[in-house]
Amino acid sequence: MKALTTIFFCNECGNETSKWSGKCLSCNAWNTLTQQPKEKKDGAASTGKALSTFQVSLEDAFSKRYITGIEEFDRVTGGGIVEDSFVFLSGDPGIGKSTLALQVALSLSKNFRCLYISGEESISQVSSRVRRIQKEIPETFSLLNCGNLEDLVETIRKNSPSFIVLDSAQTVSSENSSGNAGSVAQLRYLAEALMRICKEEKRALLLIGHVNKEGDLAGPKVLEHLVDTVLYLEGEKYQDIRVLRSMKNRFGSTSESGLFLMTEQGFAELKNPSEYFLKGRKEGAAGSTLTVTIDGARPLIIEVQGLTSRAEYTFPKRTASGIDLNKLQVLVAVMKKHLKLPLDQQDVYINIAGGLRVQDPGIDLSIVSSVTSSLKEIPVPEKTAFLGEIGLSGDIREVSQCDLRLKELSRLGFERVVGNIRKSSSGLQITKISDVRELKQLFS
Ligand code: TYD
Ligand code: MG
Repeated sequence: MKALTTIFFCNECGNETSKWSGKCLSCNAWNTLTQQPKEKKDGAASTGKALSTFQVSLEDAFSKRYITGIEEFDRVTGGGIVEDSFVFLSGDPGIGKSTLALQVALSLSKNFRCLYISGEESISQVSSRVRRIQKEIPETFSLLNCGNLEDLVETIRKNSPSFIVLDSAQTVSSENSSGNAGSVAQLRYLAEALMRICKEEKRALLLIGHVNKEGDLAGPKVLEHLVDTVLYLEGEKYQDIRVLRSMKNRFGSTSESGLFLMTEQGFAELKNPSEYFLKGRKEGAAGSTLTVTIDGARPLIIEVQGLTSRAEYTFPKRTASGIDLNKLQVLVAVMKKHLKLPLDQQDVYINIAGGLRVQDPGIDLSIVSSVTSSLKEIPVPEKTAFLGEIGLSGDIREVSQCDLRLKELSRLGFERVVGNIRKSSSGLQITKISDVRELKQLFS
């Protein structure tokens, strides 16, 4: 006999509890718990039965992959989308998820049957997007506007596409599940139904989802656990550059990233990122320094812009764009303590040119050098890069993957590099410093 008990889910984080409360005990969000019936079996615990096990067959070990020909995308997915995989693509609203998914589907439709399902936009809206991206549309590409899960599952069965895009998780709901579209209960139900389509019928599916204010995948961690691959598209909305990263991938590495530029005709691949970030740079300006960061597995030369200006208020402002504000605050403290820079009455601004977000500590020395250069109004020499991670005691540490970074600098015609760097075969002149205090000589 089955007894019906009740459990509660948090719509924000997916946490499960047996009691209702106004505030989620896991993520502290208010009014996010929703009720769901849970079937519980009464009586004696059931016993399992032995199932047959399998030997590993090398033929099964290599699944077929759908290669889009969009290299930046293929690399992030680990060499194409696996034929029966469930991929989740998330990112801020308006960042370009629908555009990217559409381009992927259009590319694949040259060789495979593809279906683009939109619960958000009408057929004519999607069609006008398609026209912006591509003039000739293959017959193997079809569109569907649908927000009902049962209808779209049946359409998929009838249409039998190899690759499906569903845009988005928050706009499709099932009559067999409680809650509104986008609630945890609906999303669980949706994900399980879509997973069956992928695995049992061997179709690849790309599901689009929004992120919430905190930048987490909207609502459900539930989806993240279930799907094979989680892709994240990021960038500054008013800049052209977009970075695609993989946060989880059952079929490849998560260290790769894909770089794109948003154009009038959708996304263009950014093949020479270092050249792009250096383009239009004003030479000889105080406050501007160059460094190399590693994004994914690729070295990128970037410009760090620093500006100091007399503070108008008692509390000087620290503003960071492209790096973490806490990182800037720590580096300002290091500069005050160890370089004795008078930053108490100075506002400090840092910007990474080109709109990239960088977390790599290897650019610390470049940030500190930019601020020092701006404050002292001394430009740094041209064809010079700064490389080093800075500790709280002012020590400069060697960066990871140093050789790869130096190679990129010499490829782009740099002559000198400043930092805690051992001898290398790159041909670059090295100014070795291992403490920020040594910067004083460079800016005097
Ligand atoms: P969109 O893919 O709709 O974002 P999301 O699905 O993540 O919400 O795209 C957002 C923006 O991109 C939109 O403001 C228009 C712009 N865009 C272009 O610049 N070029 C294009 O070719 C297309 C289709 C969109
Ligand atoms: Mg969209």
